[in-house]
Amino acid sequence: MRGRLNVKEVSKTYDNIIALDSISLDITSEKLVSLVGVNGSGKTTLLRIIAGLDEPTKGNVIFNNQILKAQNLRKIATMVFQKNIMFDNNVFDNVAFGLKIRDFNKEETESKVEKALISVGLDGFENRKAKKLSGGEQQRVALARAFVIEPEILLLDEPTANLDPSNSLIIEQFIRKIRKENGCVVILATHNLYQAKRLSGMIFHIHAGKILDAANPKRFFKKPSNQITKKFINGELQF
Ligand SMILES: Nc1ncnc2c1ncn2[C@@H]1O[C@H](COP(=O)(O)OP(=O)(O)O)[C@@H](O)[C@H]1O
Ligand SMILES: [Mg+2]
Repeated sequence: MRGRLNVKEVSKTYDNIIALDSISLDITSEKLVSLVGVNGSGKTTLLRIIAGLDEPTKGNVIFNNQILKAQNLRKIATMVFQKNIMFDNNVFDNVAFGLKIRDFNKEETESKVEKALISVGLDGFENRKAKKLSGGEQQRVALARAFVIEPEILLLDEPTANLDPSNSLIIEQFIRKIRKENGCVVILATHNLYQAKRLSGMIFHIHAGKILDAANPKRFFKKPSNQITKKFINGELQF
């Protein structure tokens, strides 16, 4: 499976706030893409539009050459948030949720959930109460819940922002693995430049709702194309 996602001149305004200002991206599932930028730069807004959770004010989201409206994007994209709400039941039911509403039968559901839990290192956790797990474990449940339905697009919005460094590294390993196993488009929003460097094949710098730079990590960090990106890399932009 090879997916191609095109974001074409997408803008989003809230009253007089311009959250996204004519953003264009053209990416495939071959490389993990990171979206980096300071707080308030527009990362979440862009991911929510690609996920079909919000509508753009202008522009289109195109997947494999088809313009998709929010309701259709929701069928092929899933999003993992910084803080994910666990349903008040066990790990199995949390991960199985998306399969149940898609009418998978019991055997298929069990086998997919099992596989997903193994992928995030949580096999044996099926009957544990999801809400009682540690923050890092809950994030792994959230990842399993998102990719168990085999989305074409997986959106990760600062998935390690609430975790300590060792749990963050564990999550990063699973993100790498999931992308390889599933072959879906993965976009990771992060303000952690080290994480972007470790994980991505392509980095987009978003600032004040605009893409200022886009490059592979090597070029991005060595030769930023503009002064604002350079300042961001050097930690000189306010968060
Ligand atoms: N629902 C909303 N209503 C009004 N303004 C919003 C809303 N969501 C986001 N914004 C504004 O849009 C801009 C981008 O926000 P966001 O996408 O959350 O940035 P990031 O995820 O990079 O921190 C910010 O100025 C934010 O205040
Ligand atoms: Mg955000």
